[in-house]
Amino acid sequence: MRVIVVGFGVVGQSFAKLLLSRSADLYSQHGVKPRIVACVDNKGSAIAPAGLDLQRLLDAKKAKDTVGAYEKNSSKFDPLQVIENVDAEVVLECTPTNLSDGEPGTSHIITAMRTGKHVISVNKGPLALAFPSLIELAGYNGVMFRFSGTVGGGTPILEFAKRCLKGDRITSFQGILNGTTNYILSKMEEGLTYESALEDAKKKGYAEAVPSLDTDGFDAAAKLVIMANWVMGMKVTMKDVKRTGISGVKVSDVKKAGERGNAIKLIAACDSRRLDVAPTEVSKKDPICVNGTLNAVTFSSEHSGQQTIIGRGAGGMETASAVLRDLIEIRDTIFER
Ligand SMILES: NC(=O)c1ccc[n+]([C@@H]2O[C@H](COP(=O)([O-])OP(=O)(O)OC[C@H]3O[C@@H](n4cnc5c(N)ncnc54)[C@H](OP(=O)(O)O)[C@@H]3O)[C@@H](O)[C@H]2O)c1
Repeated sequence: MRVIVVGFGVVGQSFAKLLLSRSADLYSQHGVKPRIVACVDNKGSAIAPAGLDLQRLLDAKKAKDTVGAYEKNSSKFDPLQVIENVDAEVVLECTPTNLSDGEPGTSHIITAMRTGKHVISVNKGPLALAFPSLIELAGYNGVMFRFSGTVGGGTPILEFAKRCLKGDRITSFQGILNGTTNYILSKMEEGLTYESALEDAKKKGYAEAVPSLDTDGFDAAAKLVIMANWVMGMKVTMKDVKRTGISGVKVSDVKKAGERGNAIKLIAACDSRRLDVAPTEVSKKDPICVNGTLNAVTFSSEHSGQQTIIGRGAGGMETASAVLRDLIEIRDTIFER
């Protein structure tokens, strides 16, 4: 499997490290031998049709902050040129999430699909803004589009709903989809004000460069949109979500909820009528009432009742493991055809 990696930050580099550490058992257990044949970041590119030396690629990035340093005197290619012209089966999209216009990820994904390449995206932006049209484009071009890492990091939330509950009908789901806001609200339960809890989350590296992406509920809304399309078969985008963030939650609200045996959580909820993200009181006995940076989702289905999946919602290695799952699935599907 030849892979083009676009974006070589936390997730892209974790994926390269994962391949380095797992290459032997990936082949023996899954028959997959991924080769990164091109890698692009914001400053340069590295291309090797036989496969890049991943340790050298990581070292080049570390030393010079660009994969362009892989070769001396390498030319800088535009990511779209690389996606279009380098032979590969899969494009992995790992550029920053942009919830305003989805770029540059949307153009990378569209170019990959138009040139007959399967796509794995960890970038939520293009999906949150244009999920229905991207699925249609993938179908039109006969390629697979996978995005396990966009929801729940390494926790297989999308696969749980799509595969484990296959045959049943999911009627609704609700959960905590953003670890940063959950961390802030958990700290407020311990008595910190919103402002100091946010500062603490920033210091620990949990908050996004633009904290409002988390605190105003945009990140949770983007994940809700992805789940509603993929799990419930809806055709929705960000503009269909009613969204309230956590900046209005006061320590006194958290305290009063605690006296009732509840906690305030940023809950993303979906049923046939609504898509909501809002701070909501949840019983501390409810399995989705998890603390810290954990994510948790409860699916309600027609015949098998309620099921909850809990796990870490982000992290480079966790998300890279989701990419690997997608890659193995693409390989298995190609093999079955
Ligand atoms: N980190 C996580 O735990 C996590 C979990 C789930 C999903 N995600 C999503 O995964 C994506 C990547 O996250 P990350 O943490 O790896 O981000 P990151 O560390 O900021 O890395 C982003 C990478 O994209 C590159 N880039 C930016 N603009 C580009 C362009 N126009 N063309 C080519 N490359 C470009 C950057 O290049 P430079 O290195 O040259 O700046 C960098 O290598 C994001 O969409 C994020 O929301 C992240």
